Amino acid sequence: MKNFVNYIFQDWEVNKEGSSKSRFILLMFRATQILGRLPIPFLSGFFRNFYTLIVEWLLGVELPWDTKIGSDLRLIHGVGLVVNNGTIIGHNCIIRHSTTIGNKKLPDGSYTGSPKIGNNVEVGSNVVIIGPITIGNNAVIGAGSVVVKDVPEGAVAVGNPAKVIKRLNLTSAQTDHSEEDNSAQARLPDTTSCIY
Ligand SMILES: CC(C)(COP(=O)(O)OP(=O)(O)OC[C@H]1O[C@@H](n2cnc3c(N)ncnc32)[C@H](O)[C@@H]1OP(=O)(O)O)[C@@H](O)C(=O)NCCC(=O)NCCS
Repeated sequence: MKNFVNYIFQDWEVNKEGSSKSRFILLMFRATQILGRLPIPFLSGFFRNFYTLIVEWLLGVELPWDTKIGSDLRLIHGVGLVVNNGTIIGHNCIIRHSTTIGNKKLPDGSYTGSPKIGNNVEVGSNVVIIGPITIGNNAVIGAGSVVVKDVPEGAVAVGNPAKVIKRLNLTSAQTDHSEEDNSAQARLPDTTSCIY
């Protein structure tokens, strides 16, 4: 619970240079992660439906309230985003508009898992990231990319299908921080089970 409340303030702060719409969406998202789990089904259902109505139907951002997302998420432009709720997004990530992060339908009719996105990952606009793939910490995904395979830590990947075009020179501080971030990511609140 404390984490979720901290996340509200952290998201609010990192989105101060973006649109107030992004701040509002993330405030609704974090609040619904708390209120959507109240042990009174009528109330929790009300808050979840209210979130869906405002954020998904009216604002056009499909960011399911039960998606596992770390602190300090920056949503740039805050429009046209679709995320599957099986996706895991680490701390301190940037996600731009018109982006889809989700699963794939297999020939047998079943669905794959969804991506796991590390910490400090920057996603350009109009990106598609699909399947049970991992985007490493500190990676950058170029605008308009379609990512269907793992992207290593600190790589810049672009294109359709996305290919690594360069590796960022991560400072040792960033790499060390990455290790800390990895364990922090492992400690992300488990939003798939009711913890309140
Ligand atoms: C991926 C990105 C970070 C790379 O930036 P960069 O390190 O400055 O890279 P460069 O511009 O030097 O490009 C390097 C090469 O990658 C290519 N490239 C860069 N971005 C690309 C992209 N999104 N898709 C396809 N190719 C791309 C360039 O054409 C260049 O190719 P070349 O070497 O054959 O000439 C940047 O291009 C990008 O896409 N950022 C996202 C920005 C965004 O979404 N803005 C929306 C604002 S709301």
